[in-house]
Order: sequence, then C-alpha cells, then structure tokens
Amino acid sequence: MMCIRSEIIGLGHCLPEKILTNDDLSQMVETSDEWIRTRTGICSRHIATTETTSVIAGKAVENAIKNAGLTPSDVDVFILATITPDNTTPSTAAKIARNLGFRHGVPAFDISAACSGFVYALTLADNMIRLGQAKTAVVAGAECLSKIVDWTDRNTCVLFGDGAGAAVLRAVEGEGTNKDTGVLSTRIYADGEQYESLGTNGGVSSTQSSGFVVMNGKEVFKHAVVCLSEAAQTVMNDAGVVKEDVDWLIPHQANIRIIDSVAERLEIDKDKVIVALDHHGNTSAASIPLALSENYASGRIKKGQLLVLTAMGAGFTWGGVCVRL
Ligand code: UT7
Repeated sequence: MMCIRSEIIGLGHCLPEKILTNDDLSQMVETSDEWIRTRTGICSRHIATTETTSVIAGKAVENAIKNAGLTPSDVDVFILATITPDNTTPSTAAKIARNLGFRHGVPAFDISAACSGFVYALTLADNMIRLGQAKTAVVAGAECLSKIVDWTDRNTCVLFGDGAGAAVLRAVEGEGTNKDTGVLSTRIYADGEQYESLGTNGGVSSTQSSGFVVMNGKEVFKHAVVCLSEAAQTVMNDAGVVKEDVDWLIPHQANIRIIDSVAERLEIDKDKVIVALDHHGNTSAASIPLALSENYASGRIKKGQLLVLTAMGAGFTWGGVCVRL
C-alpha cells in the first residue's frame, strides 16, 4: 500500500576545534589513558572553547541542507535535541532559525531527552512528515557537554565530549514495504524510575544554575545494555527486517563495552557496528547523527543501506529508528 516516508536526503556535522586527549586528562585528574581506554573505549574528545551549541549545531544544519541540495528557505520544521542550550530560553533552535534564515512562521523548537534526543527528534519529524504537516524537516542533535561537566570529577569528566550532527528529511512516496527508502519504524520510551541515576545536580527552578553531570555509572550501564538492544530489536520487528538485513547498527556512543554487549545480544557482527566514541567520547544527543554523518561522508555508510539507530540516556529515555538511507 502506498505511503509517505521520510527520506534522509542530507547529513552534516560539526566538531569544535580543540581536542582533549586522555593524556591531557591525566594532567587534570587522577586517571590514565590506560584506564579510560580499557573501561570506556574513548581516546580523545572535542571540547568547545569559544563555540556555543548554536554555533556547532548551526554549522551541522547548514552542511546538511547544502548536502541535500536545498536552501534554508526549503525547511518546513526544525527540531534540535540538546540539553546544553545557549540560553535557557528562547530555544537554541529559534536562534539557529534566525541565523540561517528559515522562513517566517516555520516551527523551530528544542527537545530535552538527553542521549536519546536525536531518536526522539527523528521520531517527531517523521510523524509530522507522514501526517503531511511538513515536506522538509531538519533534525539535529548538538551538545556542549563540557560546559556542564565537573572537571574535578574523574568519574564523569573523562566520558563526555562536544559536537553536533544533523539530517534533512524529505517526504517521498513509498510502497509500504521494508524495501522502501526512508524511515521504516520508530519507537521512543521513558521511565522516570531512574531519574536520579543520571543527570545534573541542579537546574533553573531548583538551584538557579545548570548544575553538573552526576551519574551512577554501574546502574546506567546495566540498563543501557537492555534498553539499547530491546529498542533496536523492536524497531527491526516493526519494520519487518531481520539482523541479516541490517547493514549498520549505530548505537549511542557511551561506552565500547555497552556497544559490544548490545551487538552480542542482537547477534549483529562487530564489523557492522559503527563506533565513533574513540574520537568523540559521549556527545549525548549529538552522538548518533555525528557518527552517521561522519561515516557517510567518508563513504563507509552508503545510500540504500539499512540502518538501525538505538539510543538511551538520562530520564531514563530510550528509543530506536530503522531507516533505509
Ligand atoms: O550517556 C548515557 C549513558 N551513559 C552511560 O552509558 C555510562 C554507563 N557507565 C559506564 O560507562 C561505566 O560505568 C563507567 C565507565 C562510567 C565506569 O566504569 P565501571 O567499570 O563501572 O567502573 P566503576 O565505576 O566501578 O569504577 C571502578 C574503579 C573505581 O575505583 P574503586 O572504587 O574500585 O577503587 C573508580 O573510582 O575505577 C575508578 N575510576 C577511575 N579510575 C581512573 C572511576 N573513574 C576513573 C577514572 N580513572 N577516570
């Protein structure tokens, strides 16, 4: 049966210039390259200096629109996933809409779903496209996590990085089968039971500040493996595809040991799993679009391939997307 699908027609990303290595970190807190590498898989991360979230997100969006062969005036809706906005209000999406020159009246808003933010944004945009409310949607994930990290806490400061990734979606007609190009299935979830396990120790209405990232690493780790693999399996089932059909699994980039366990549970070969955390660290909402855009630009991920995206983060929130590029 004919249906409307959201095809990804452009990708873009942006990383702040400054790179912070594990050795640099070992000069700042009691840690070592060896500990960080073996416990997390992270070797280096990018850190914003003068850049803000709107700057790196704006560049990622600009590149995605250019790569789609469109101009900002073609955009019908813009959704930015971030937990590190330039200002508490207005949204960083509104700032980017102004800077890039989106049309008057085009909806632009931020969503807060931490590391699952991009999967949430993609889900919302896909629904708007399929409902006919937008023909061209831009979704982005961008973070300057370095601004809310406690640089004296070795338990957290070694894990995170800054960056941005974006995708342009366009309405296309599909056959309604798993051979279609575009988003085939989406799922998003939340469960507030683990509200305390991962987040910041403050916020606007409680402490009149943004707070710093705090985490119960072991608890998050345990749930992450289950949430990431279940969301991936569910969207594969929804799309009517099996693990052999999947060209690339793109999991949220938090810890290589989590990624390996998820791949093992899904019985997806390690060489079909995209890993970018070695040079990005955990960039929260940016992690999936950044990994996707970078690997598409390098030619590793190709048009026509079937991707499974899966994310999990503070809230807890989690979700997945199955998409054919
Ligand atoms: O983005 C959302 C999702 N976030 C995640 O998925 C993160 C999930 N959690 C994790 O990735 C892991 O739990 C961590 C990487 C955060 C920690 O790994 P772990 O294997 O769970 O280590 P641990 O917390 O049990 O710590 C082991 C030891 C501790 O020392 P003691 O108490 O055993 O003496 C820590 O104090 O390692 C110590 N430690 C460090 N040592 C050197 C913790 N951080 C560091 C560090 N350098 N940076």
